[in-house]
Amino acid sequence: MDKLLIEGGRPLEGSVRISGAKNAALPAMAAALLTCERVELDNIPRVRDIITMGRLLAYMTATVETPELPPTAMIIQAKTVNGAEAPYELVRTMRASILTLGPLVARNGSARVSLPGGCSIGARPVDLHLKALEQMGAEIGTSHGYVEARVPGGGRLPGGNVHFDKITVTGTENILMAAVLAKGETKIENAAREPEITDLAELLIKMGAEIEGAGTSTIRVQGKEKLHGARHTIIADRIEAGTFLVAGAITNGSLEIIGCVPEHLASVIAKLRETGVEIRETAPDTLVVRGAKKLGAADVITEEYPGFATDMQAQFMALVTQAQGTSVITERIFENRFLHASEMMRMGANISIEGRRAVVHGPTTLSGSGVIASDLRASASLVLAALVAQGETLIDRVYHIDRGYERIEEKLSSVGARIRRVS
Ligand code: UD1
Repeated sequence: MDKLLIEGGRPLEGSVRISGAKNAALPAMAAALLTCERVELDNIPRVRDIITMGRLLAYMTATVETPELPPTAMIIQAKTVNGAEAPYELVRTMRASILTLGPLVARNGSARVSLPGGCSIGARPVDLHLKALEQMGAEIGTSHGYVEARVPGGGRLPGGNVHFDKITVTGTENILMAAVLAKGETKIENAAREPEITDLAELLIKMGAEIEGAGTSTIRVQGKEKLHGARHTIIADRIEAGTFLVAGAITNGSLEIIGCVPEHLASVIAKLRETGVEIRETAPDTLVVRGAKKLGAADVITEEYPGFATDMQAQFMALVTQAQGTSVITERIFENRFLHASEMMRMGANISIEGRRAVVHGPTTLSGSGVIASDLRASASLVLAALVAQGETLIDRVYHIDRGYERIEEKLSSVGARIRRVS
């Protein structure tokens, strides 16, 4: 099993280019199931979750081509999806597989997708996805660990009024994809407003869908009988960009982050500035981060977009271990997302967990040690902690980081980090 070996204490300097957003690419790939024509995507990050989604689509009879040039392109064509289902072997490794449910039931009139199962950052059920599909007129059953959704009497989903009790990102995406081929109108209320939703809506509109309000909490969709092929470039990964902003800040370095969308990072930028980190927008797609001589403490509460992203919480925790004073981090989105804290404590951090709050007393000198990555963003936070730690840190289970960060060790070494992959 691969591990990352990192020698800390070097300020990062230079430029890094941000990849396409995994969380926008995954629903875009699933959206290709909505048409028999070719969907050409660009700026697809080469990360494990994308490979898994590609396998899942291929299993469902879609052809998935990844041309050599440009290396970020992907062409998907799902000529037929009759009888398609998403088996447990593929779904268990990636919760986002549930994103195939909406498109399949919309195109086919029925779908069978394995339940994603547990996850280290909390229970993460799919009840909201299922309730919403019912509100659109689907009949839902579960048996032998599979969700079965079908349109009573066959044919297209009627569509309807969907109200999410709680904001859900992939839930909103699933329903959006189901709604574009429904017979009537669908109104989605309390929808997620993440940039990944807007990006998906843009692709669907290029495919012929009629959607209004994506990016707001009410989305209206007029269903169409058919969608067609389209070309689309995926937005930049705001979480990867945010992770590199913290990398520059925590090592007291100077990093240029190219190919990002600063607007998508507004809450992260504001929080980093609160700690004294300097961030400048030097071009519409470029940010320059410079560390602070003395980092100050700052409290953070994770929220749905445009609030501070839960996917940046672990990285921010790594940063404030280096800040003067006490920082309180409140996790509002997931109930068990502090697994990285115990690993940081092994490195010398002073953190206490009280339910959904983590209290971090800084600054502490971190020292390199053996740590275990527990999930995707937790592993990124351990890389960040290791970059500032004294001595060597060995991070185990880096397959988590490979799920969502493209060539992380290559990108970090190119700006001066001492990092290498060992098996
Ligand atoms: C997506 C992102 C993930 C990010 C998360 C929150 C993708 C592929 N993943 O995950 O990186 O951390 O948004 O920004 O885009 N919930 C339910 N029932 C449901 C669905 C969700 O109770 O049916 C709960 C979850 O347990 C969680 C909260 O709602 O507590 C938000 O989850 P959700 O927005 O659905 O996260 P994902 O879409 O899975």
